[in-house]
Amino acid sequence: MRDAQPAAVYLKDYASPDYLINRTELHFELHEDHALVTSRLYMLRCDPGRELPLVLNGVALELVSVTIDGQALEDSEFQVEPETLVIPKAPDQFVLSCVTRILPQDNTSLEGLYKSQRMFCTQCEAHGFRKITYYLDRPDVMSVFTVSVEADQARYPVLLSNGNLVDSKVLEDGRHSTTWHDPFPKPAYLFALVAGDLKYLQDSFTTCSGREVDLRIYVEEKDLGKCDHAMLSLQNSMRWDEEVYGREYDLDVFNIVAVDDFNMGAMENKSLNIFNSSCVLCSPETTTDKGYQRVEAIVAHEYFHNWSGNRVTCRDWFQLSLKEGFTVFRDAGFSADMGSPVVKRVEDVANLRTVQFAEDAGPMAHPVRPESVIEFNNFYTATIYEKGAEVVRMIHTLLGAELFRRGSDLYFERHDGQAVTCEDFVLAMEAASGIDLQQFRLWYSQAGTPLLRVRDEYDADAGCYTLTVQQSCPPTPGQDSKLPMVIPLAMGLLGEAGNLPLRLVGETPDPETGDNTHRVLSVNQAEQRFVFEGVGERPVPSLLRGLSAPVRLDYNYSKQDLCALMSRDDDGFVRWDSAQTLATRVMNEVEQQLLNRSKDKELEVDPILARAYASLLEDDSLDAAMVADMLTLPGENYLAELAARDGGANVDTIHAARVAVHADISKACTDSLLQRYHALANASPYAATGAQIADRSLRNTCLDYLAAAGGEYVELASRQFTDADNMTDRLAALRAIVFYGDDGQRDEALASFYQDWQHEVLVVNQWLQLQAMMPGSDALDRVRGLLKHPDFDMRNPNKVRALVGVFSAHNPVNFHRPDGQGYRFLADQLTLLNDINPQITAKMLTPLTRWRNYSGRDQLMRAELERLAALPSLSRDAFEVITKSLQ
Ligand code: PHE
Ligand code: ZN
Repeated sequence: MRDAQPAAVYLKDYASPDYLINRTELHFELHEDHALVTSRLYMLRCDPGRELPLVLNGVALELVSVTIDGQALEDSEFQVEPETLVIPKAPDQFVLSCVTRILPQDNTSLEGLYKSQRMFCTQCEAHGFRKITYYLDRPDVMSVFTVSVEADQARYPVLLSNGNLVDSKVLEDGRHSTTWHDPFPKPAYLFALVAGDLKYLQDSFTTCSGREVDLRIYVEEKDLGKCDHAMLSLQNSMRWDEEVYGREYDLDVFNIVAVDDFNMGAMENKSLNIFNSSCVLCSPETTTDKGYQRVEAIVAHEYFHNWSGNRVTCRDWFQLSLKEGFTVFRDAGFSADMGSPVVKRVEDVANLRTVQFAEDAGPMAHPVRPESVIEFNNFYTATIYEKGAEVVRMIHTLLGAELFRRGSDLYFERHDGQAVTCEDFVLAMEAASGIDLQQFRLWYSQAGTPLLRVRDEYDADAGCYTLTVQQSCPPTPGQDSKLPMVIPLAMGLLGEAGNLPLRLVGETPDPETGDNTHRVLSVNQAEQRFVFEGVGERPVPSLLRGLSAPVRLDYNYSKQDLCALMSRDDDGFVRWDSAQTLATRVMNEVEQQLLNRSKDKELEVDPILARAYASLLEDDSLDAAMVADMLTLPGENYLAELAARDGGANVDTIHAARVAVHADISKACTDSLLQRYHALANASPYAATGAQIADRSLRNTCLDYLAAAGGEYVELASRQFTDADNMTDRLAALRAIVFYGDDGQRDEALASFYQDWQHEVLVVNQWLQLQAMMPGSDALDRVRGLLKHPDFDMRNPNKVRALVGVFSAHNPVNFHRPDGQGYRFLADQLTLLNDINPQITAKMLTPLTRWRNYSGRDQLMRAELERLAALPSLSRDAFEVITKSLQ
């Protein structure tokens, strides 16, 4: 595929473009076996008089012709390289026109123009546009686009691009065309085109200034009934962005198109968002509650990009978190406001700790603003998105809501229509608030998850309570030592009768805020002491409330402390977090017994956890969704992540310990579980409302514990499986049968589920996913068998993720089989996928890159990485991940 090894690019080498493109006119002629793209680019040299070669990006293009101001170029006047078109001499100002021939029907990378089923669509972020035509494919080149699309009218009655429809024509030979104009200058990565046989759900939105926006969701006809939730989510997002950020929508149309083959969740192309169908379609019969929430969040995310991403975009891809971190922060705020803020936060934190903390501790660790990159597609990571959102969240905490809003207003006002940097964002926040964020900037440049070590002392005579806080941050690739960061530490102190008023020594009590029980300490040195006075009893510290910073906490809580926080702290997040810590502690003890015991000794599970869970279950004044989250044991991946830091993860003991603790709770809490299970049964028809979702979540959590006891309790699941009128309950029941039933029950339920839902692609994907997660030693054989199932397709990312991805990332015991067959399986599939879809291949390498965490298996894992490294056609994407993880 290439002669030289792919090279890294560096942030420090950024140079502004030599040429600009004021206007971009594109004409697409779509055919079954090729497409012709004609461009007219109105180009301008930035530094007139200074003769510079024009270097355009272009990949996998056949150049049919190239002209400047209508004059065809001689062969000697340009050079076609594998990834560029170089024109050594060009005037100061000119119109460049190229005709390129491309093959969308063969484009399995799903970047550029490709076919998804019978539909043409595009994906241009980050570097897809260069697979369409020669261009200055970088986000700081912004241009006004006019696009015409011509295709067969019967096959492709709908032809869409960005902006407003300005013309449509019927042509000869059954063909037709439409022309679109987008008045907002945009980088090429926001360009989009769709051609297909689509129907749409239509609605509208009246903006705060009274403009009417036409909203449409385009889908295949069979899916028209599944668009209502996305439409409502879109309208809610538009309203929310006006109310919370003062951002009004700016065009008269907003279109969403659903496609089945898509590398990511969705894409924020200006006024023509393209969505993975799994992130837009919803119906009670086919979509779980989690699915509903995901659709709401992703619709909002893409919509919010219209300001944080499109109106103000990134100067270069090292600044990716500028738009992604900020937009994730915005969509999290929206979801919190649409539902329960604490439940939303708990779920985000669980994900951050499992996925992002692991990434930050692994070979691909990078700062929120990376400094060097081989393939930008590899940087759509949990660090850029989720840690990036945490960084914005900390700015929000440090400034407070009001100053933060002033900062975001200033940012949008200053930089509207520009391509800017993370630094510009911080500067706007500083300018609007007057708060110095100099040291805070380290969050953008230092990788790794800081550790906060907190110790305390209580002096009863003086009524003084002292917290000693130390921070450190482990080395990460290319960064051996780190400087102390600014860590907002939200906290409280819990006494016997509730949270205590907080007063630091030397502070004069403010009559209004004097007995605040909550505050944010500013930690900004390697070691600091905070002394509280007037503390009449030894408190239990409630630390890092809401996860006020993306750090790990080390405080030596006793189990009794954790129980106290869990049941009585004012902060809902800390209650959940304490339950997680307690459960982790109890599971760790069982792991120790498993490692040390003689075979026949009974495992002892500390009853403290079951007692705490029982009192949660028995208190029906608590929010059911929170109780469900509190009763959910930390996952095996999270436990492995924690264990990796203390010398190595043993997946088998982690799994066995978790199963044992789960069974113990099932047994100890049977009555209360059963009581809640029955009491939470819902008589009214399905609705994806907060209250119903909460009840289903707790009820299905109860079912999961109960069914673990087998026998009659699996019958409970079987009954729910047959009676359910919605996918949430049906899938939860199926999962319980598959995990806890006998082989016969399992096979029968899986077969009948497939029988009922085989016509629904997204449901079949859930069915694949469940089997990929299945416990038991035959899991790998089953997964191998499913590769041959008619519904599996290696070219469809959703299916590959559902089967191969979920097996490798969410079935630890089977992926890490001692014989190495799990690793071999993944590497075999990635060998095939490497030639089909580089982006997905690189993403799915992640579980193998964690080889250092698994002593005893590490050599087997490495061997598979090395086998892949030797592939002759290894993509740049996979090359980067493999070489960095072998280093
Ligand atoms: N920019 C998209 C989002 O976060 C993600 C994406 C990246 C989609 C690259 C496709 C390709 O909303
Ligand atoms: Zn995004």
